[in-house]
Amino acid sequence: MAQTRLACLLTLLSTHCCFSVLAVVLRTNDGSPWTDEFDKIELSCLIESISTTNPRIEWKKITSEGPSYVYFEKKISGDLENRAVIREPATLLITNATRSDTAKYRCEVTAADDQKSFDEIVIDLVVRVKPVVPKCSVPKSVPFGKSAELSCVEDEGFPKSQYQWFKNREEIPDDPKTSLKFFNSSYTLNADTGTLKFIAVRKEDAGEYFCRAKNDAGYAECTAQKMEVYDIDLLGIILGVLVVVIVLTCITVGICCAYKQGYFSSQKQTGNNYKVPAKGDGVDYVRTEDEGDFRHKSSFVI
Ligand SMILES: *[C@@H]1O[C@H](CO)[C@@H](O)[C@H](O)[C@H]1NC(C)=O
Ligand SMILES: *[C@@H]1O[C@H](CO)[C@@H](O)[C@H](O)[C@H]1NC(C)=O
Repeated sequence: MAQTRLACLLTLLSTHCCFSVLAVVLRTNDGSPWTDEFDKIELSCLIESISTTNPRIEWKKITSEGPSYVYFEKKISGDLENRAVIREPATLLITNATRSDTAKYRCEVTAADDQKSFDEIVIDLVVRVKPVVPKCSVPKSVPFGKSAELSCVEDEGFPKSQYQWFKNREEIPDDPKTSLKFFNSSYTLNADTGTLKFIAVRKEDAGEYFCRAKNDAGYAECTAQKMEVYDIDLLGIILGVLVVVIVLTCITVGICCAYKQGYFSSQKQTGNNYKVPAKGDGVDYVRTEDEGDFRHKSSFVI
């Protein structure tokens, strides 16, 4: 009886007075929720006002490739199949979020009997992913005064990882001038790319370095690696070069002296001490005894 009376009242209202009230209106508790990977998350879609008794409820996932159904004809489908349920009236509950769930989701409610028969809200879901152990590269030994670059990369984390570097277990500040310990160091640190660059390493820069990748979901570190700084012994190098130069000079001078003394000329003489048979050109190469030199002679002249 009461139900019939209510229905009558509703009919009365809809036909006579409050057209504007008869509208489907949606609301959410959280328009941009987030969760960690493999956790559950609720995409709340609350119906604030409706008069249709059996509205059509749909959820779409909107990615760069366009929208796709995740709830359609009262069934979870697509990406979320077996991983989500609907909680009355229209809230979507993801039970085991994965990184690929990061997207916009649209809750759409169609209420055929309402004056304003359609409403939708968009919920922006972020599934955070912990960083994995970053790949770190630390040069084993660097000559004093030279530049050096340490790098740290990790690609799994979402949102994108930020990087910190540690030297001998102590965090390296972004700006060396802010710390007494690192004041004279020449490095620059890029927290977005994970690069730690020394313009000119000092003895004091030697140590054990490791890097940490972190985001809102957590952090991961690589194992510490040793960087040594060695002196280029300038005096040693100069002495070495000098010795080489002296040795080379001695050899050259020796060879020249040997030539002058005629050590090589005897061999040469045996090789050249013959008369080239006269050919068409009529030119002879004759070695003259007195000068020890070559001279052209025309055989016609003789
Ligand atoms: C969640 O999904 C991952 C794979 O996507 C699976 O390894 C894990 O066991 C699932 N966790 C639960 C609680 O179902
Ligand atoms: C930095 O260098 C200056 C000048 O060379 C020196 O006086 C100072 O002690 C150094 N500071 C540190 C912390 O090594």
